[in-house]
Amino acid sequence: MDWRAGVVYQVYPRSFMDSDGDGVGDLDGIAARLDHLVELGVSALWLSPIYPSPMADFGYDVSDYEDVDPVFGSLESWDRLVAEARDRDLRVLLDLVPCHSSIEHPWFREHPDWYIWGGDGDGPPNNWLSAFGGPAWSRHPQTGRWYLHSFYPEQPDLDWHNPEVVEAFQEVLRFWVDRGADGFRLDAIDRLVKDRELRDNPPATAPFGLPLHPDEAVLEPRYSRDRPEVVDALAALRAAVGDALLVGEVYVPTARMAPYLTQLDRAFVFELLHAPWEKRALRDAIEAAAALRGRPGAGPAWVFSNHDFGRLSSRFGRENERAAAVLLLTLPGTAFLYQGDEIGLANGPGAQPPHDRLGRDVCRHPMQWDASEHGGFTTGTPWLAAVDPAERNVAAQREDPASLMNLYKRLIALRRDLDPSFRVVELSPEVLTFERGSDLVALNLSSEPVQLPSGEVLLESAPGALTRGSLAGHAAAVVRSY
Ligand code: GLC
Repeated sequence: MDWRAGVVYQVYPRSFMDSDGDGVGDLDGIAARLDHLVELGVSALWLSPIYPSPMADFGYDVSDYEDVDPVFGSLESWDRLVAEARDRDLRVLLDLVPCHSSIEHPWFREHPDWYIWGGDGDGPPNNWLSAFGGPAWSRHPQTGRWYLHSFYPEQPDLDWHNPEVVEAFQEVLRFWVDRGADGFRLDAIDRLVKDRELRDNPPATAPFGLPLHPDEAVLEPRYSRDRPEVVDALAALRAAVGDALLVGEVYVPTARMAPYLTQLDRAFVFELLHAPWEKRALRDAIEAAAALRGRPGAGPAWVFSNHDFGRLSSRFGRENERAAAVLLLTLPGTAFLYQGDEIGLANGPGAQPPHDRLGRDVCRHPMQWDASEHGGFTTGTPWLAAVDPAERNVAAQREDPASLMNLYKRLIALRRDLDPSFRVVELSPEVLTFERGSDLVALNLSSEPVQLPSGEVLLESAPGALTRGSLAGHAAAVVRSY
C-alpha cells in the first residue's frame, strides 16, 4: 500500500522516550522505540519540531532551521533515526515552521527586512490580534519599532512577500530532504502570507467556523490570514521539495481548503477534529472533506487529536474512544494518530506552574510504556509527570487481546484491505454508516443497542459489541458484504 495513504503517527519528541535520563524525550529515544510503530502498523512518523529553540513555544519558535536542539540530540542522531526508520520501512516527516521564527533567530538581527514591521509610531499599525490572545504587535525594545507576531511575542512573523525569505526556506527544505526527510507538516500555513498593505481586519459578522481564541474571534481575519497569495508561497515550497509529502496545518473551514490542496498533498480536517460526537456534525464534516480535490492524489488528513487541542479520549469521552478509533482508521486516505491515543491516554493535569502559557501541557504528558512510576519514559525526573501508567501502558495492552492498542493494530491492518471507494449511507437515525466498497462501517452514536443488517463481522470495537446483528451503545463495527 502507498505509504501516503497509510497512518502517520505524531511523535511529540519531548514526551515520547528519553534515552539519556534528563527527563526530556530525544531522537535516540524515538529510534529505540520505532518497533512500537512497526507493531502498530503505521507507515510514517511526524516529529513535532526538533530544531534549536529557546522553547518559548516548545520548538515552534525556531532559532536555527538546519540543526537539532541539543535537548533532542544532534544532526547525527537525526541521521541514525532516519536509518533506523528506513530499516523498518517507516517514513519520517518533519515539522516546518515557516510563518515565524524565534525572536532569537540570528535572522531577526541580521535580516530585519525578512520580518513584518509596522513603523515606530505610538501604537501598532493595525488592529490585528494574536492567535494566542492580545494584540499581534509588540514593540521591539531596541528600536522601538512594532513587529508582527501571529502567536507569542517571541515568534516574530516572517515576510513572505520578500523573495529572500522564500529562498531561505527553499534551502531549508532541500537541506532536510537531502538528509532523509520524506515530507513535512507545515505549521500555521494559512497565516503564511499577509496583506501587503496591512489593512485593518473588519469586525466579525459571522463565526469563523473553527474555534478561535476569544480575543481573535472578534475580528474577521480577512487581511491577516488565508490570503489568496498564499498559493504562490506554497508553490515555492512545492518546487523545493519535488514529490515529498506536504501536509498543511490549514486552520480554515473545509469549504476554504481547496486552494491549499493545489500545492499540498494533505490538509488536516479541523472541522472533524472539533466536531462534537454527534452524527450530523461528524457526517457533515466527513462528507465535505472527503469531496476535497486538488493536485493529483491530494486529499484530507483525518485527525482527532494532537499536541494543541486535547486528547481523543478526553474530547469524545472514554465510552466513545473505541468507536472514534474505528472512525479515524476507516475513513479513506491518510489518518494521523497522536502518540498515546492508541493506549487511551487522556488529558493530564499539566504542570504547576504551567510550561505552556496557553494551557496545552494537558495533552503533552509523556508516553506510558510500562506500569512503573514514570511509565518507562525516563530514568530521570520527567519534565511533565506521567498521567496514569499503572492503569494504561503499552506493555500491558500488548498482552491483552481486548485492549485499545490491539484494536488500533487490527484497524490499521484492516484499513489496508478496505476498498478505496467511500459513500455515506443512511440506515438508522442513531447510527453513522458509510460504505467502503461492499463493506459497511457503522458507528452507534447512542447509548442503546441498534440493529444492523447481517453480514460477516470483520471487526468490532470491543469483543461482543456486535452480537446477532445488534450493535451495542457507543460501539462500532465493520461488516463485510452486508
Ligand atoms: C501550530 C502548532 C502550535 C504552535 C503554533 C505556533 O498551531 O501546532 O503548537 O503553538 O502553530 O507555531
